[in-house]
Amino acid sequence: MQMTSRERVLLNERERECMRKACRFNAQLMDHVRTQVRAGITTNEIDRIVHEYTLDHGHIPACLGYRGFPKSTCTSVNDVVCHGIPGAYVLKDGDIVNVDLTTIVDGWFGDQSETFILGNVTEEARMLTQVAFDSLYIGIDAIKPFGRVVDIGRAIERHAHSYRFSVVREYQGHGIGQQFHLDPGIPHYVVKGGTSSPILPGMCFTVEPMINAGTWKTVIDPIDKWTVRTYDRRLSAQFEHTILVTEKGPEILTLTQNGPQRGYKF
Ligand code: MF3
Ligand code: CO
Ligand code: CO
Repeated sequence: MQMTSRERVLLNERERECMRKACRFNAQLMDHVRTQVRAGITTNEIDRIVHEYTLDHGHIPACLGYRGFPKSTCTSVNDVVCHGIPGAYVLKDGDIVNVDLTTIVDGWFGDQSETFILGNVTEEARMLTQVAFDSLYIGIDAIKPFGRVVDIGRAIERHAHSYRFSVVREYQGHGIGQQFHLDPGIPHYVVKGGTSSPILPGMCFTVEPMINAGTWKTVIDPIDKWTVRTYDRRLSAQFEHTILVTEKGPEILTLTQNGPQRGYKF
């Protein structure tokens, strides 16, 4: 996504608590959504579940109306890389679907996504989902206070390429706080000839690798102007967490209670 601010924000302890709280709710929402996602429901139903749960708890779905986005969550099925718009599509056995949740809690944003495997999927779909999941944690483990942002992309790219999968380049992680998308951008690959920001305590950003079975290239749907698909229409999978960099290292703010934990095998 386009960054909306060039400012680099470092959070103090009070502000860090605000992010912890926002992300804790977002993770709770993911745990709620997880109980409902299955073959036979439409992506519109996932959107309704997200919308109602968020409002019932007094919070705001950040996606709704963001740059004109029409729904409260993104649902990205199979060859959809990201920004899929919930609709009448009925999820079926063998699909993989990423649900990307972003909530505003007292003005602070929490952002995370998971890819769900529905019933019996192909070995390629399972493996791609596994590599996307592991890439997220490998990227997070590369975050060191006073290190560099490029270390994250280097670690992710190495892992994905070792499985002959590719890493999406046109969409990145992002700073997050009192706005949805802030600097720094977090590329999940090594930008050749690029400069790389330092990672500083107090920074908050997302890591959200999108891993493709085939080419890294993508196309935006010419009609809805949102849905991002792989250029070759092969599968794409993604996981996302919001991370706070503390003096001790990365703190994952969007950990769920019931979702796949670090090391999980799909
Ligand atoms: N949640 C997405 C991200 O991780 C952004 C979705 S923007 C929307 O950055 F408008 F498509 F909802
Ligand atoms: Co994000
Ligand atoms: Co997101």
